Amino acid sequence: MLPETAMKSYGVRALLSAHPEIRKLKRHYPSSVHGNKIWASSWLLMDYFKRQGLNQGTRVMEIGCGWGLTGIYCAKNHGAVVTGLDTDADVFPYLQLHADLNKVKIAVLRKPFEKLKKEELEKVDVLIGADICFWESMVDALTKLIRRAIGSQVPLILIADPGREPFEKMGETFIKKQKAEVLDWSVKRPRNIHGRILRITK
Ligand SMILES: C[S@@+](CC[C@H](N)C(=O)[O-])C[C@H]1O[C@@H](n2cnc3c(N)ncnc32)[C@H](O)[C@@H]1O
Repeated sequence: MLPETAMKSYGVRALLSAHPEIRKLKRHYPSSVHGNKIWASSWLLMDYFKRQGLNQGTRVMEIGCGWGLTGIYCAKNHGAVVTGLDTDADVFPYLQLHADLNKVKIAVLRKPFEKLKKEELEKVDVLIGADICFWESMVDALTKLIRRAIGSQVPLILIADPGREPFEKMGETFIKKQKAEVLDWSVKRPRNIHGRILRITK
């Protein structure tokens, strides 16, 4: 049987690793910090927005966007104005391919999230990230960034994760001090996925 090469879930079309276009990109853009596929937690965020809603025109920034599918979902299904940020320039051709496939425009920014400035964060309504806290070394950088985002009055911050130790550690810092909670979240599509969403509101 031939491997499946494309799928559609939450209204977004996605190409899988076996798809010829992805295989072609992989020869030229060997992403180096795990931006090599659509990670499971991105479906948790899509489900969050499907249930909770997202206003048309909301300025969404997806940090550690990889192939950018969550941002693409926000633009396609809710009319959000989306920027995908990643430290690895190699992920952007995959993001562009998916943006074209889903007929949306996504702005991109190559930058490590720890370098995001207050002036940039002040223009963000919703800051999102999926599967971006997987190394111990990321906890400090992400904690500082989120503190800066809170200080910049970003109204909503959502970070999804399977529940790895670094993520839980970061979450605890905010639960103690901020208007934050870590939600258990599960979806059945495109497959059974269980995880956690750190939600910080203003
Ligand atoms: C596990 S992947 C997740 C990608 C995407 N969010 C998803 O759910 O499919 C982690 C992504 O974070 C990016 N990344 C890692 N460290 C980063 C940093 N310091 N600043 C910005 N992006 C970073 C990687 O390049 C990669 O694209």
